[in-house]
Amino acid sequence: MVEHLYAHIPFCPKVCPYCSFYKEASDRNKTRAYLDAMLREAELWGDRLQPRTIFFGGGTPTALSTSQLDYLISGLRERMDFSRLEEFTIEMNPATVSLEKASRLRELGVNRVSMGVQSWDPGLLETLGRVHSKDQALRSYAILREAGFRNINLDFIFGIPGQTVDQWVDTLRQTIALQPQHISSYCLTYEEDTEYFLRLGRGEFSQDPEVDAALFELTMETLEGAGYAQYEISNYARAGRECRHNLAYWLGADYIGLGPSAFSTFGGERWKNVSDTSDYVARVNAGVTRADFVEPVDAATRQAEVVAFSLRTSRGVDVSLVPEEKTSELAALGYLTRCGDRWLLTRKGRMVADELAGQLIE
Ligand SMILES: C[S@@+](CC[C@H](N)C(=O)[O-])C[C@H]1O[C@@H](n2cnc3c(N)ncnc32)[C@H](O)[C@@H]1O
Ligand code: SF4
Repeated sequence: MVEHLYAHIPFCPKVCPYCSFYKEASDRNKTRAYLDAMLREAELWGDRLQPRTIFFGGGTPTALSTSQLDYLISGLRERMDFSRLEEFTIEMNPATVSLEKASRLRELGVNRVSMGVQSWDPGLLETLGRVHSKDQALRSYAILREAGFRNINLDFIFGIPGQTVDQWVDTLRQTIALQPQHISSYCLTYEEDTEYFLRLGRGEFSQDPEVDAALFELTMETLEGAGYAQYEISNYARAGRECRHNLAYWLGADYIGLGPSAFSTFGGERWKNVSDTSDYVARVNAGVTRADFVEPVDAATRQAEVVAFSLRTSRGVDVSLVPEEKTSELAALGYLTRCGDRWLLTRKGRMVADELAGQLIE
């Protein structure tokens, strides 16, 4: 039985120059065939899927119209048992929110929203090539509240070219004043195959790891001081408002991903669907594999992943899963601290989590 379902909606109102998620500009002509293909893909799973969490990610799921979202969610409901569903998240871009859409999503069972704001600074929103203004993001947040959403995440990015410490402090303060239940704060990554990556290569942007580390430190201090617990490196939540879907990934649960570019892990295998909407639709319709990559996930790989992911969370990693010699050494250096039978990252450790995970699973 699989308890976690992801659906990838690869459409965006406008493509942002820093983003490497698989997406394309919205194209109404393609959409119906794509929605039918996703429903057909869901059907293949039959009653092996009984989701406790669903996550619609992208791209921008709300780039779909209200009736398209209705068609997709109602179609999924007809094909699987929703009776154990606890958390149903949908990602949104502030430019794609309306009261009608938000209210209908609530009626359809969506109970968590994750909206990409990135910054409250108008100039930085422009630098990021965002399609929405600060005021539009504020209006959309108010609409989500009006529609009855009480579990809202807002996404932010720090380390944006030209961003000052004061601008980041302002963004954190304005966010806290809005009292969302969850805040995701990502350090800008220059992803290959993005316009930002090319601009970095041309010397138009520069990176300063020390500034990024200082902004990260400031984020932890400010958000924890405001009552948001950092339960994962980039994620902060009010008590009980952690994202259950992402926690399931991080703690090594199986999940099924529908749609182009979606990953799945099930039955000792991991695969990724093709990252091309038309190819994805054609493959589903022809009844051939949607995957362009499959790998076995044996017990050793699974354990290494559980160590790497759980180390990033506030639950930490079970002492029995990591070599004692190495953990003692990292603890002596101030990167890890022991709490019962778990190793947790210290604040210093959280700054270099990926390197530490690498050392622990060598
Ligand atoms: C799928 S988007 C969220 C919803 C919607 N598409 C939007 O952008 O408003 C996921 C989030 O990933 C983050 N993100 C995307 N590209 C990033 C990058 N290169 N570096 C850091 N964060 C990034 C952004 O915070 C973004 O909100
Ligand atoms: S950040 Fe969001 S809106 Fe921008 S391109 Fe990526 S998925 Fe689309």
